[in-house]
Amino acid sequence: MGRKFFVGGNWKCNGTIEEVKKIVETLNAGQVPSPDVVEVVVSPPFVFLPIVKSLLRPEFHVAAQNCWVKKGGAFTGEVSAEMLVNLDIPWVILGHSERRALLGESNEFVGDKVAYALSKGLKVIACIGETLEQREAGSTMDVVATQTKAIAERISDWSNVVLAYEPVWPIGTGKVATPAQAQEVHVELRKWLHANVSPEVAASIRIIYGGSVSGANCNELAANPDVDGFLVGGASLKVMMSTIPLGVW
Ligand code: G3P
Repeated sequence: MGRKFFVGGNWKCNGTIEEVKKIVETLNAGQVPSPDVVEVVVSPPFVFLPIVKSLLRPEFHVAAQNCWVKKGGAFTGEVSAEMLVNLDIPWVILGHSERRALLGESNEFVGDKVAYALSKGLKVIACIGETLEQREAGSTMDVVATQTKAIAERISDWSNVVLAYEPVWPIGTGKVATPAQAQEVHVELRKWLHANVSPEVAASIRIIYGGSVSGANCNELAANPDVDGFLVGGASLKVMMSTIPLGVW
């Protein structure tokens, strides 16, 4: 069975209620392939999740951009997986490089978060990716394998996981990875999963690419057999529809 193409929009820490309503209006008016062909998930900041969910066309879904590592309680400022489930928010992005870098989220902490979120019934977009220094040092695969291992050691059911390969160096820079660079890491990741998790998981999991995806580069990226979709940042605030490649129509 083929892997359904996945387009995620990470709005990051952006927007006002007026701007968010405008983005949703644009998404609701956009021409998209059937949900049998492309899965579209948008991820607004926490404060806008309920309104976006209420206004968004029913075949699109919403994701939180993070959640806490365990049951709620005296953790000021955190949002628990239970709260997302209570609000019927089905997806959550975890391990984004900005959180790893700015908030010091370790591989193990991200792994624990993924395990906890899955245990509460959430679907997870799990982010991994190397820095420019790590790539230039030739340790890209070591880095992403270590990040993936920290998840693999904590979960057994991968059916609700989408793996997002987001090399840090193209994020927000407009300097997108080449299709060959993306494909190379995606196929190595699939090999790692085949050897360390199972052939079934390796074959079925969607591995999506993030880092300066735009309408101009999405078709070439998507033409690669192991690129199963995108996690779009900046472009998702303006022209997310344009990042749905023609090839998936
Ligand atoms: O999570 C997706 C994001 O990190 C990519 O951002 O702006 O490079 O598309 P951008």
